[in-house]
Amino acid sequence: MLVTAGPTYEAIDPVRFIGNHSSGKMGFAIADQLAAMGADVTLIAGPTAQKSHQPSVKRIDVTSAAEMLDACLQHYKNSKACIMCAAVADFTPVTVSAQKIKKQDTDLNIELKKTTDILKTLGEQKSNGQILVGFALETNNEEDNAVEKLKKKNLDFIVLNSLNDKGAGFRTDTNKITIIDHKLQKTVFDLKDKNEVATDICNKVAELINT
Ligand code: CTP
Repeated sequence: MLVTAGPTYEAIDPVRFIGNHSSGKMGFAIADQLAAMGADVTLIAGPTAQKSHQPSVKRIDVTSAAEMLDACLQHYKNSKACIMCAAVADFTPVTVSAQKIKKQDTDLNIELKKTTDILKTLGEQKSNGQILVGFALETNNEEDNAVEKLKKKNLDFIVLNSLNDKGAGFRTDTNKITIIDHKLQKTVFDLKDKNEVATDICNKVAELINT
């Protein structure tokens, strides 16, 4: 099983980066739960202070979206399922300054280019029997946006969380999810501890593997 977690950091210069508020908690909880269920788990983690509680989890630390893509491509072929929980940066600076950018009198513009959509790339390479799971963090038109991502990225199911739900999202110990599968069947879950949410997600993966 392959799991990704945490944010990615996109360097601007040696001391600055573009990042996001992902704590990695959800992805680490999923990796631990899969390991507890007996799976052989590789966890590709962006910069995070999280620690796995399962010694069998093989952790690979990466920093940028490009590094996460490389690590995913290396491990995806041998994975029965991949759960892409990481909050991957959609844009990265076109150039990284070798020296610290000094303060100047004028405003500063940083030109950004798109990163590769890792999940979409894996969806294009998906082989028969492989299970691919994505996340969608939305603020509006939540279900429509999630279904669009499910189809566009060739997923078996998508885990939707809305920033409008209290207790869901970044840096909380709880989450409130809706799972939408490839048959567009929708399951709405209550607000729960992230460890219990991880169990719900892993049970859905197990159900698909066994059908
Ligand atoms: N994802 C990815 N590679 C990216 C961006 C996102 O693999 N460069 C994955 C995330 O890990 C998540 C899913 O795609 O599982 C959806 O991420 P999200 O940020 O919600 O959606 P985007 O496709 O980036 O679309 P938008 O930001 O416009 O909502």
